[in-house]
Amino acid sequence: MKILEIVGARPQFIKAGVVSKLFRREQSITDIILHTGQHYDENMSKIFFDELEIPKPSYNLNVGSGTHGKQTALMLEGIEKVLIEEKPDWVLVYGDTNSTVAGSLAASKLHIKVAHIEAGLRSFNREMPEEINRITTDHISDVLFAPTINAINLLEKEGLKNRSHFSGDVMFDSVLHYQNVAEEKYKLKNITSLENYYLATVHRQENTDDKNKLQNLFTAFSNLDLPVLIPLHPRTKKLITNIKFNDNIKVIDPVSYLEMLLLLKNSKKVFTDSGGLQKEAYFLKKPCITLRNETEWIETLENNWNFIVGTDVDLILEKSKEQPSENQKNSFGDGKAGEKIVNFIKHS
Ligand code: UD1
Repeated sequence: MKILEIVGARPQFIKAGVVSKLFRREQSITDIILHTGQHYDENMSKIFFDELEIPKPSYNLNVGSGTHGKQTALMLEGIEKVLIEEKPDWVLVYGDTNSTVAGSLAASKLHIKVAHIEAGLRSFNREMPEEINRITTDHISDVLFAPTINAINLLEKEGLKNRSHFSGDVMFDSVLHYQNVAEEKYKLKNITSLENYYLATVHRQENTDDKNKLQNLFTAFSNLDLPVLIPLHPRTKKLITNIKFNDNIKVIDPVSYLEMLLLLKNSKKVFTDSGGLQKEAYFLKKPCITLRNETEWIETLENNWNFIVGTDVDLILEKSKEQPSENQKNSFGDGKAGEKIVNFIKHS
């Protein structure tokens, strides 16, 4: 059986890392990786492959940056060509990026079976490109692997129950496995001299492309009671030149996955507009403040582990003082999501 996995952006390398490792153990399966080239900076791409020991992609389309239409179109054209040549039995796509929607569309039009990993997530905000990518991908895929029961319920409401399977979250598998590896491989003091700090990330188009919102976030960070460490996405880095902020904010380049886990483990709290980091904070029991007006990961909101605050300075500062009230429920599976996905595909 031949599997072709399509990746392109940072969070997909982490998810594919879990699944491709398991496929490679199977004698009867050939696992091919196609990188669209959506993320191309060394510290946004190659470092993840090296650290997570993911084989070098057989194909890299080097699509790079561009408008959504252009980026997705170039991916579609390149992916179609590879699929015609390779004729895989299954295409695997991950999450909600332009690489996800391009991969699922190209494969479904060629009648190649598509499995969507991290299916059934909704923010109910159609202004987010990710929401359009998720809805489209779920509706054209053959098998949907949902990370939570909430995701299964959302898929049922959209008439997709028959194709849906609860796998648990591959990112939970990954954190369980790599949190100790991170501590073995890196020392906190080599990444930052800070000991007590908040960790923040900002990269969502809805926050970065509105100067007032971006300024609000940096004003709020400037008024927090601890230093704020921000490994900054290149998109945001280009846009902060005219933004004012205090020197409690320490901006650094994007860090690797293992470095991020270590920074997270040692932080006091997390401020982010990333979906993945909200969950990783939850898995590592760090309180999170979500810099958006909604979240797909509603499980993390229980017992004040996560607050949705948007870009309101006062609300960010108010919620930063809260502490979670109780223990967490286990909503993200048993840490064996990857195995469930691989077993399903193997016996299909
Ligand atoms: C993408 C995903 C988002 C995901 C995020 C993880 C879409 C629509 N969005 O957002 O869901 O959470 O990845 O990081 O697919 N850039 C660089 N170097 C890089 C990559 C990007 O400089 O290696 C800059 C470019 O100027 C580019 C901008 O960042 O135009 C945005 O990159 P893009 O891939 O379009 O989206 P992300 O913001 O990374």
